[in-house]
Amino acid sequence: MQHDQITTIALALELAIDRLADIPDTIPRLEAEVLLSALLDKPRTYLVAWPEMELSPEQRDSYISMIERRTRHEPIAYITGCREFWSLNLEVTPDTLIPRPETETLVELALEYIPQTDAMAVADLGTGSGAIAAAIASERPLCEILATDFSASALKVAARNFRRLGFNNVHTSAGEWCQALPPGKRFNIIVSNPPYVAEGDGHLAHDGLPWEPQRALRSGDDGLDDLTRIITGTPEHIASGGWLLLEHGFDQGDRVRSLLEQAGFSTIHTSQDLSGHDRVTTGHWA
Ligand SMILES: C[S@@+](CC[C@H](N)C(=O)[O-])C[C@H]1O[C@@H](n2cnc3c(N)ncnc32)[C@H](O)[C@@H]1O
Repeated sequence: MQHDQITTIALALELAIDRLADIPDTIPRLEAEVLLSALLDKPRTYLVAWPEMELSPEQRDSYISMIERRTRHEPIAYITGCREFWSLNLEVTPDTLIPRPETETLVELALEYIPQTDAMAVADLGTGSGAIAAAIASERPLCEILATDFSASALKVAARNFRRLGFNNVHTSAGEWCQALPPGKRFNIIVSNPPYVAEGDGHLAHDGLPWEPQRALRSGDDGLDDLTRIITGTPEHIASGGWLLLEHGFDQGDRVRSLLEQAGFSTIHTSQDLSGHDRVTTGHWA
């Protein structure tokens, strides 16, 4: 089909489904609809209801460019500029990791330690798009949340998300792990989903990971460099009775538990994500 023949929603979808057919692990119709509904700023049901609706030449060119980006395996979230997490629509850019569903396990566990009526101090280290901090802010409006990252560009995206979602109780701070926390300040809850993929892990070449910021993913030969730095840094910043919650790889639970034990944490426990994989380890600062 020639590009100038793409005059309607139905024809645009037809072309896109054809082009996307070769991308592994995709549902071409779904992706074609998600991209077109993002471009038109309409729900997918609109595309079904109005197949004969005409596209402007600008809309057609933009859609073709979106499909071309996708055929180069660029993740959909970077093409549309957004991703849903905890039912919140978050802006994402190539400066931020695309929030993953398994990180909702970390949020669920953190909420168990934050009573609705308490104004706890919470830190989210390595906030990226702000996903974890935003999810906690949406559920616990009384908390004061500090979201940190060493990437100034990621923090700008996070700050825009907090502002757009109306979360006035979330602030940002730039810096390396615990160095981004105000000296002497102690938090009731510290959460982090740090980089935890080992250098040389074959997954880094697949599933769109090459498009994501590599410093959001890679963490030394065994994937534990950043988890270790966070665990050794938190005792200076966690309040007595506080909790540290860390997301990690499915095969890192035992090593994270022993790092927490060495650092003086107690009541250490690893929880599984919805796929049954070890995903979050929690430690208590007594
Ligand atoms: C796996 S991503 C998690 C992003 C976000 N929290 C989420 O769950 O979607 C890790 C984040 O840690 C940040 N990061 C990496 N190294 C860091 C460091 N040394 N100090 C602070 N932040 C760091 C990255 O910029 C990235 O935003």
